[in-house]
Amino acid sequence: MHREDFEILNTGIIYLDNGATTLKPKCVVDATVDYYTKYTANAHRGDYDNSLKVDMLYEGVRDKVRDFIHAKSSKEIIFTSGTTDSLNRIVFGFMKTHLKAGDEVLLTKAEHASNILPWMELEKEIGIVVKYIPLENHRVVLNQVLASITDKTKVISLAHVTNVLGDERPIREIGALCQERGIYFVVDGAQSVPHRPVDVNDLQVDFLAFSAHKMLGPTGVGVLYGKESLLEELHPTIVGGGMNATFNSDGSWEYKSLPSRLEAGTPNIAGVIGFGAALDYLMSIGMENIYQYECSLKKYFLSELATIDNVTVYNRDIDGGIVAFNIDDVFSQDTAIYLNHYHICVRAGNHCAKILKEDLQVRNTCRASFYFYNTKEEIDEVIRVLKQSKDIFKIVL
Ligand code: ALA
Repeated sequence: MHREDFEILNTGIIYLDNGATTLKPKCVVDATVDYYTKYTANAHRGDYDNSLKVDMLYEGVRDKVRDFIHAKSSKEIIFTSGTTDSLNRIVFGFMKTHLKAGDEVLLTKAEHASNILPWMELEKEIGIVVKYIPLENHRVVLNQVLASITDKTKVISLAHVTNVLGDERPIREIGALCQERGIYFVVDGAQSVPHRPVDVNDLQVDFLAFSAHKMLGPTGVGVLYGKESLLEELHPTIVGGGMNATFNSDGSWEYKSLPSRLEAGTPNIAGVIGFGAALDYLMSIGMENIYQYECSLKKYFLSELATIDNVTVYNRDIDGGIVAFNIDDVFSQDTAIYLNHYHICVRAGNHCAKILKEDLQVRNTCRASFYFYNTKEEIDEVIRVLKQSKDIFKIVL
């Protein structure tokens, strides 16, 4: 679908690394370039036409994000530099002041580094206890969540969809459990928001983090969603211009209200405006359509992979657009280098989920991750190349 909008596809690549970042359509590039070439100005600081236009466009994107994830108010949308930044702000801006030694935080071993390392840092800093919900067949199941909750559990922090196996967590049900028990629920939406409809109210999440660049937008832009009452209590981890109402030589200061209070410094204006174009583009296709199309591509890829006897797939029974696989007895990075020889882009390695190996029993995998511009014809080419992989070491070595 819509391949003509992605100039980079004319270079002949087969791009199956959408979990890492997506390609950018012309409208996103144009929107970004227009800001630089036609109306450059800072945001929230000027009283001249271009500056007022920037304010309108920048804040307009905030409203688009609000609608995209069904937040109640634009004050609940904070622009950050990406999912990692958003998660770090939740941990160090909110949890650090709301948790105490002995409080338990539940994660899983399948989480990305950015949803584990900040918690480990906080464990060291203030003595919270990080625990891992046991996975069943690599998945989060409600019974194990319930069994892991104790009266010390204060936070559950999970990816909505994981980045290695692509499994979707029962977020709505866990959200309800957290609501009932007064547990903060943090969701890493980096691999879900770009690929399926997400409604923060329906899912009952307290915080949601995601990145623009994984959903057609520019790099360096992310979103921190939080319920307004919680964001009111989130301490700004970065302070400076744009977020203060006043400060005085006696050491007193006053910060602005949400969302400005959490966006110190000149924001990534071009990136946010480009993100707005990405959101318009995605909404014109429809997120449910994107999800269904990716599922159909994965199904097709799996049925074709089944005709190759030396390929192991690790997430066959999981919907969505991610396939984790290895050619038997071949190091995953060698497979990626081999595929690259045919201009096929996949990611290989541990994908920043470095403790998943304790559950999966495999250290590294190749990951093909689809988006709506991928096609069955591209999959046919990948299958053709994989079928002749007995030649792999002639090419890789
Ligand atoms: N988190 C990104 C990925 O899974 C970079 O590839």
